[in-house]
Amino acid sequence: MSETLAGIAEAMVQDGQGILAADESTGTIKKRFDQIGLENVEENRRAYRELLFTSEEAMRDYVSGVILYDETLRQSAKDGQRFVDLIKGAGAVPGIKVDQGAKPLAGFPGESVTEGLDGLRERLKEYYGLGARFAKWRGVIDIAEGLPTTGAIAANAHALARYAALCQENGIVPIVEPEVLMDGPNASHTVERCYEVTELTLNMVFDALYEMRVDLTGMILKPNMVVPGQKGPQVTAETVAELTIQCLKATVPPAVPGIAFLSGGQSDELATEHLAIMNKMGGFPWKMTFSYGRALQQAAIKAWAGRPENVAAAQSAFTHRAKMNSRAALGTWSPEDEREAA
Ligand code: 13P
Repeated sequence: MSETLAGIAEAMVQDGQGILAADESTGTIKKRFDQIGLENVEENRRAYRELLFTSEEAMRDYVSGVILYDETLRQSAKDGQRFVDLIKGAGAVPGIKVDQGAKPLAGFPGESVTEGLDGLRERLKEYYGLGARFAKWRGVIDIAEGLPTTGAIAANAHALARYAALCQENGIVPIVEPEVLMDGPNASHTVERCYEVTELTLNMVFDALYEMRVDLTGMILKPNMVVPGQKGPQVTAETVAELTIQCLKATVPPAVPGIAFLSGGQSDELATEHLAIMNKMGGFPWKMTFSYGRALQQAAIKAWAGRPENVAAAQSAFTHRAKMNSRAALGTWSPEDEREAA
């Protein structure tokens, strides 16, 4: 891998591979552990991440990058090998979540802005030293009656652009993630409304990136797909794929090397199917792959249930999902593939 920004970005979206979002904060991983009745202590978090990162086939063949949380970036496997080195050894790029979460935006009831710019330059330098070569920052846009406002979108776009410029200054590829929620507090919107808000958000984000002099060839976009709210009127997978491609073509410059989607609350299989249909359709200038959190990990975490004797089963569940998404990234996945054991 060339250590230029463009070289790192290309490696992150290489053919048939995608990104494992394993950057759950201590608060978010608690929600996942609660589902299996597991205590949220450092050793359990470490053991779980070790299970993922030592899944050989998945890490070698389907995963090009892993997004880590601060604690995980500093942790090691049981045998003493640093996670960062394990990930690099498997041919994937280690990355780090650097935002400090979405906080209520003053003066904008029901809306948020993501914090974490203060001191970011120094943190990026430290993360680079620890081996991170890309970073992630997530801005959150919720759809509700009369929301979002352009004020809140602008605040998030500005923060994303400031973050991206600081990353590039420090040799780190920014994943720019403006997430229009499908599972927010309301979530009853139509797919058309998601299209409209995603289009506006991406336009404002790319304006801000241009203003902040971000090099588009050295970044990855991590958007939501154009989907209805979880409680809104549902549409076919083909419609989601068509509208998502249409929306991205209207907003994302071709200089961006890759688009790596978030799963956002879609079921595992649907997240795979949507990506597969888009890549089968083709006709866009970027690589399109996955940067899934829940859609890659749900089955594995359930199979594991916190028990050492289930590690192999959890690894094969993770490997299966990673393999299915690899095929989706290549556009070769078909529903029958799901019956294949990992
Ligand atoms: P999901 O795929 O679970 O939405 O997580 C991706 C992510 O990194 C959210 O910031």
